[in-house]
Amino acid sequence: MNILFVGDVVGSMGREMVKEYLPKLKAHYKPQITIVNGENSAGGRGITESIYKQLLEAGANAVTLGNHAWDNKGIFDFIDTAKYMTRPANFPEAPGTGMVFLRLNDIEAAVINLQGRTFMPPLDCPFKKAEELIEIAKTRTNIIFVDFHAEATSEKQAMGWFLDGKVTAVIGTHTHVQTADERILPAGTAYLTDVGMTGPYDEILGMDKHAVLYRFQTSLPARFEVPKTGRKQLSACLIQVNKETGKARSIARIMINDDRPFFKD
Ligand SMILES: [Fe+2]
Repeated sequence: MNILFVGDVVGSMGREMVKEYLPKLKAHYKPQITIVNGENSAGGRGITESIYKQLLEAGANAVTLGNHAWDNKGIFDFIDTAKYMTRPANFPEAPGTGMVFLRLNDIEAAVINLQGRTFMPPLDCPFKKAEELIEIAKTRTNIIFVDFHAEATSEKQAMGWFLDGKVTAVIGTHTHVQTADERILPAGTAYLTDVGMTGPYDEILGMDKHAVLYRFQTSLPARFEVPKTGRKQLSACLIQVNKETGKARSIARIMINDDRPFFKD
């Protein structure tokens, strides 16, 4: 079986890419489970209920979040009813959940969302929280997907090695640039430091490059906005999984943009 994971959807351009390409990716790769990180999907900051529903309609079975989960205040009104949405599990006290179970045809899978602590706000230990959740998940399924939303490559690699053999995949999000280190770790866990971002292609991490440049050049404050027009990209990965053992067989990066057009068979 296959798991398709689409990286950080940023703003309206990211959502347009999901709408256009998620059905094509699903038709081509036939994933049994599709997961989308939506923490930047509402104008680059957080998610709204209608965007959450749009992502599900476009083909996501679960939506993961990250440090921007709470930026759109409306989330507090719907997070507890959003059955297929996870926020980082290691927030010490927060509404919503850090793990959801999906049941699709004859397959059950757990989706876990964790957030790193290096160069990020303090949270509960993601390693301890991972162990706690995996113990619960294992009573139901061997197929366990972890979106590790973290800044530091070393912390992401540490999580990969810590969970090798315990989960199906540890895939990093948050840094928005796809890394080229996809691999199957020795005990069968698929690993990728960062899956990359879905949104503006000609900007800086999805934000208007002029504002980012201005801030670097002047050290003065500048409001970062997500452009609404321009060239777009989609970043994702596909994991082949043994559905009995939950071990990963292969992992492949997917990148769609004007320089790497999506192929049609
Ligand atoms: Fe993030």
